[in-house]
Amino acid sequence: MAKQFEDNHHRKFYYLRLSVTDVCNFKCTYCLPDGYHPQQKKKPSFLTLDEIQRVTGAFAECGTSKVRITGGEPSLRRDFTDIIRTVAGQPGIRKVATTTNGYRMAKHVHQWREAGLTHINVSVDSLDPKMFYQITGENMFNQVMEGIDAAFDAGFEQVKVNTVLLKDLNSQQLPQFLDWIKTRPIQLRFIELMQTGEMDDLFNNHHVSGVSIRNYLIANGWVLKLKSNNDGPAQVFCHPDYKGEIGLIMPYEKDFCKSCNRLRVSALGKLHLCLFGDHGVELRDLLQQDEQRDELIARIQGGLEEKAVSHFLDEGNTGMTPNLASIGG
Ligand code: GTP
Ligand code: 5AD
Ligand code: SF4
Repeated sequence: MAKQFEDNHHRKFYYLRLSVTDVCNFKCTYCLPDGYHPQQKKKPSFLTLDEIQRVTGAFAECGTSKVRITGGEPSLRRDFTDIIRTVAGQPGIRKVATTTNGYRMAKHVHQWREAGLTHINVSVDSLDPKMFYQITGENMFNQVMEGIDAAFDAGFEQVKVNTVLLKDLNSQQLPQFLDWIKTRPIQLRFIELMQTGEMDDLFNNHHVSGVSIRNYLIANGWVLKLKSNNDGPAQVFCHPDYKGEIGLIMPYEKDFCKSCNRLRVSALGKLHLCLFGDHGVELRDLLQQDEQRDELIARIQGGLEEKAVSHFLDEGNTGMTPNLASIGG
């Protein structure tokens, strides 16, 4: 095996977030409020199956054991099931995850599972269908709920649900969320709203810290779980009376980036060292032939030496990232 990917701050990278499209069919207020619009007039050509196979193969050779397939909305790719199968087939990849808006889940999640998907995260910003529409711009609440049921039916033991915490909107709905997970093996994660380049008033009006939720949980018998090395960024709490768990993703906390264990590859084949603040390292020219693998690995390792110690969001950095759909979240 080639040398494990490591940066200059002694962080090792087990976890690749691979975006396969930046197209999305939802219009979440905090991400694509006006819907998807390609940057260039020409329709972008996203990584092909062969390119996906080469890039995940190289990461796997250097110690990556978990790949999360992201977007935009990854399931909008017609070959999404083949993408899962390709990633799952790379020697060394033990976890194949995706993050979806749930739009195609009810119909296709069995097929994804059979292709090798091991973990699934779904966005649900409110359990109130009207507010769900208000936040996502789509009337898909029932469809997404059916999708979650279908995931359990397909054999997923747990489903993670992402809720972007929005002051005066879903921040008032904690009791409803807690009720929902009492009998369901759902890890519900409240994500603090992150300020991206295209966000104006929304951040100022609706950003709220997850600290009050954490205080509530601790005061009410919830216990912080220990993390393992290839987990994502959530602090996870459990409670003996609840089948579900609560996760908090708080990127504005001081030490959030300390345990960063993940790298990103965009749908156009650029390596991004962080969600915020880097232009990306071009990889696509080295994804054309299997024989390029050593050169590809050397370029990724070279890029890693530039990885900053933190995204510095807590110091007011909003970075160059226009929205999270463009970089795979
Ligand atoms: P798992 O724990 O493996 O399920 O991964 P995850 O929670 O990272 O996956 P998901 O795609 O569901 O992301 C949830 C939220 O965490 C999204 O809002 C991501 O943008 C955010 N997130 C994931 N990684 C990072 C990171 O490195 N930095 C920041 N600031 N946010 C991140
Ligand atoms: N801040 C926090 N979370 C965000 N997401 C998208 N944009 C933002 C943002 N600005 C979340 C989505 C999805 C995940 C991949 O990222 O809700 O669940
Ligand atoms: Fe689409 Fe996800 Fe962005 Fe919502 S957060 S618009 S579902 S990419």
